[in-house]
Amino acid sequence: MASRGEFSSRTAFILAASGSAIGLGNIWGFPIQVASNGGGAFVFTYIILTFLLAYPVLMAELIIGRHAKTDTVSSILAVSSGKSKGLAYLTGYWGILTASLILSFYSIIAGWMIAHFLGSVAEMFGNLELKQWLTEFSLMRNLVFCGLFYFLTISIVSSGVTAGIERWSTRLMPMLLVLMVVLIGYIATQEGAAEGWRIYLQPDFSRVLNPDLVIDALGQAFFSLSLGVGTMMIYGSYVSKSENLPKLGAGVAIIDIGVAVLAGLLVIPAMYVALHNGVTIFDDAGNLMASDNLIFTVLPALFETMGSAGLVVSILFFSLMTTAALTSSISMLEVPVAYASESLDLGRTKAAWSVGLAVLAISFVIIFNFSSLFGLVVAFTTKYSEPLVGLLFCIFVGWIWRRDQILAEIKLGSPDAENGLFWKIWPNYVKFVCPLLVILLFWHSLS
Ligand code: PHE
Repeated sequence: MASRGEFSSRTAFILAASGSAIGLGNIWGFPIQVASNGGGAFVFTYIILTFLLAYPVLMAELIIGRHAKTDTVSSILAVSSGKSKGLAYLTGYWGILTASLILSFYSIIAGWMIAHFLGSVAEMFGNLELKQWLTEFSLMRNLVFCGLFYFLTISIVSSGVTAGIERWSTRLMPMLLVLMVVLIGYIATQEGAAEGWRIYLQPDFSRVLNPDLVIDALGQAFFSLSLGVGTMMIYGSYVSKSENLPKLGAGVAIIDIGVAVLAGLLVIPAMYVALHNGVTIFDDAGNLMASDNLIFTVLPALFETMGSAGLVVSILFFSLMTTAALTSSISMLEVPVAYASESLDLGRTKAAWSVGLAVLAISFVIIFNFSSLFGLVVAFTTKYSEPLVGLLFCIFVGWIWRRDQILAEIKLGSPDAENGLFWKIWPNYVKFVCPLLVILLFWHSLS
């Protein structure tokens, strides 16, 4: 344990945790959800649920993590007592399983990002045949680039999380943001964009309580903030005791929402610009076609309208997306790897490679059975598992861990916490309101 790293500063933590939070969930997943759930109504419900449910759970994870400073199973055990140890194991292992399964589908999409990046490079060199192979769905392409993405993820994780993550997230994430803002400015000049913005920004309030929409928004809120798998617990374990956790958590949540909203401001109008230019996006019944492929259809169509500059933009965009995916995938792989290296005493390098290759095998199974397995794994992990494991985290901080100890942990970084708003609301909120809300929402969606 002596070798556990710590983030070098508050900014480093915010960037790393935001690096985990910001990823394909914001830029690939969020626009798909918005487009298939009727636009603004989804955006509205998602933002509300992030504040009502995701932020409180994020705090539960960060506080448990910083208190225990170890892998997720041992962390939850550290805040449980005699009778609840069984539940602690169940929660920890379920989180590890969920993190691994998320990585198994995530890396397939990330592989597409690498392939599209290389596709634009190939086009730049005039090799259109190669470009076509790289940007079209095929078994071979999916296997190769998913494998390559694992290689990158495992290499970074095996060299230690704090150093690896800090190096990557601090420089490249801000670039992605700037690029998105520039692209949003560009799209405003295109015919059709205004229609996209109208649909995106005007919620149809009659839809916001639609059961399917609410469950999708709940899953998206948890997935986007990397909750319900133990990632944020591990990141919390690398935070110095002198930091003010509620503030740090709020910073990360706001940045994450901000990036998702920006991605929507780009992709949804891009969809309508593409529609305007004759690309087919909806089927006759008005449903989104090939939703997994949404950004790979509408963004390249947008880049094409830019003439030769479009190629450079495409290369930049897909390489930055690959980086954004990497800063998230390393935080997923870290969950099983921290457990294998700290609880099972496997060396970090060995743990990273053995766990990584095992999860790679799952990805390959999904690739071979893409149409039947991909959607299933996404739904099982993000829609159901993440909120349910999040609920268990609430049970631990609300009902099992002693409240004076929780306060003591928070006070380390904010001595006056007892009198602050956070402490007045949060403990009872995670104890009663969060579990009840999650149960109600699931009930509502099943009935
Ligand atoms: N939050 C990440 C994203 O939006 C995904 C993620 C989920 C990362 C769970 C870690 C754990 O892309």
